[in-house]
Amino acid sequence: MKALIVNCSPVKTGATAEIVSIIEKEISTRYDTKCICIDDYDFKFCKGCRSCHVTAKCVMDDDIFKIMGMFSDADIIVSVSPSYWADIPGQYKSFIDRCTPWCDTHEPHASIGEGKKGYTVALRTGPGMHECDRIIQSIEHFYGHLHIECSGNLGLTSIEYKENVEPRKNEIIDFCKNI
Ligand SMILES: Cc1cc2nc3c(=O)[nH]c(=O)nc-3n(C[C@H](O)[C@H](O)[C@H](O)COP(=O)(O)O)c2cc1C
Repeated sequence: MKALIVNCSPVKTGATAEIVSIIEKEISTRYDTKCICIDDYDFKFCKGCRSCHVTAKCVMDDDIFKIMGMFSDADIIVSVSPSYWADIPGQYKSFIDRCTPWCDTHEPHASIGEGKKGYTVALRTGPGMHECDRIIQSIEHFYGHLHIECSGNLGLTSIEYKENVEPRKNEIIDFCKNI
């Protein structure tokens, strides 16, 4: 079984990347894992033209197809997202917008395949869980429209830098036991 772990932050060496690497280490004994960072890919914003509602294809041709190829290939997807202004980072939101050709709100639509499971980890610097809940809700909404079954989530507060992740390692390891 293949697992795709996505760093939804543009920071490749920060707290989100640290959590991605803990998850990879924990599940790599059970899954063939691949980790990506959203910032490694070059894609444009959705133009909102709705051509894909009729054709199931995007009018643009860029790295979105590479990412969706990896989504298609994976059995499970783990998205790890920090809070940027109380929401998912703009880069990940732009990616989700560009997934509209694969979204089930219109016919025809493309498909990444059925039977996939999706997990979400949200982190933030502030102390309240409400921002983590909002991020989890956005990503699970995205999963739902791609027919990825929402299978677990974890919210982590009071994390700013990668040094803040180590004391939370056990929470992350516990979460991984259910993946
Ligand atoms: C542009 C920006 C906006 C942020 N906005 C929030 C916020 O609204 N609430 C919060 O709790 N933390 C916020 N943070 C803090 C991040 O969620 C936190 O530092 C996280 O660990 C960043 O992970 P990263 O360095 O891997 O991207 C923000 C950080 C950045 C860079």
